[in-house]
Amino acid sequence: MLENSHHHTLEKARAILKHSRSLFVLTGAGISAESGIPTFRGKDGLWKSYSAMDLATPEAFQKDPVLVWEWYHWRQEIIRNARPNPAHTALVALEKHIPSFMLLTQNVDNLHQRAGSMNVLELHGNIFRTRCLECSGTCMIGTEDIKQKVPLPVCSCGGILRPDVVWFGEMIPQDIWQNALTFLAHADTALICGTSGIVWPAAAIPEYAQQHNVHTIELNIEKTPISSIVEIFLEGKAGELLPDIVNSL
Ligand code: OAD
Repeated sequence: MLENSHHHTLEKARAILKHSRSLFVLTGAGISAESGIPTFRGKDGLWKSYSAMDLATPEAFQKDPVLVWEWYHWRQEIIRNARPNPAHTALVALEKHIPSFMLLTQNVDNLHQRAGSMNVLELHGNIFRTRCLECSGTCMIGTEDIKQKVPLPVCSCGGILRPDVVWFGEMIPQDIWQNALTFLAHADTALICGTSGIVWPAAAIPEYAQQHNVHTIELNIEKTPISSIVEIFLEGKAGELLPDIVNSL
């Protein structure tokens, strides 16, 4: 019975995607979990007993920038050694298949771009980019530079560099957010993959989509606060379900 209802839900999602000419995708840490990158709120989310909420804040950086950089160096190293997984690859195929496509990611790991996704908007920045606290200059850091920058990377102007990511309590890039909403308002479908749906403003995407009569499909290994809002909830691993759906379109 359960098997049947899962199959039925999957078929419904396929039918919606098949008829979609314009697709908006929102991703979170769950899409990179099968690449071996710990999610923030999963069981491997803690680092030395600190959670993301303890470290990903301007206050934490002000108090102990070396500690925060140590955490980012750890994550950079994991990400550098990770590879895009079948979920990332399936989204590349979807982008080729559907005429109009936008991918908004909360991830800072660059894996969508490495997989070959083209129209990607980064809502929370990029872990391989730094920003100077003095001159605000940004710079992509080569992976070989990472270790040289221990303990505290410094800009050529002398200012301290921070990761160019959005921390809790900080503004998200307004131009990116507005672009995403404009696209979403005219999309046929919003596919929401591997996010806990509790961090704003991304958590507002399903409701916004529904206000604009956009189909909503959520894919996650477990239910989230947005599962009761979306039209279709698909339970399972992104790296298994997404290729399965995409291959049958
Ligand atoms: P979370 O760690 O909060 O949530 C990851 C979600 O992915 C959870 O709902 C998991 O159930 C789901 N998940 C795990 N493995 C999966 C798999 N293989 N397939 C499908 N789903 C899976 O990560 P985010 O929702 O991305 O922000 O967190 C949002 C933001 O909070 C992050 O961008 C980060 C974080 O703190 C900042 O650092 C500002």
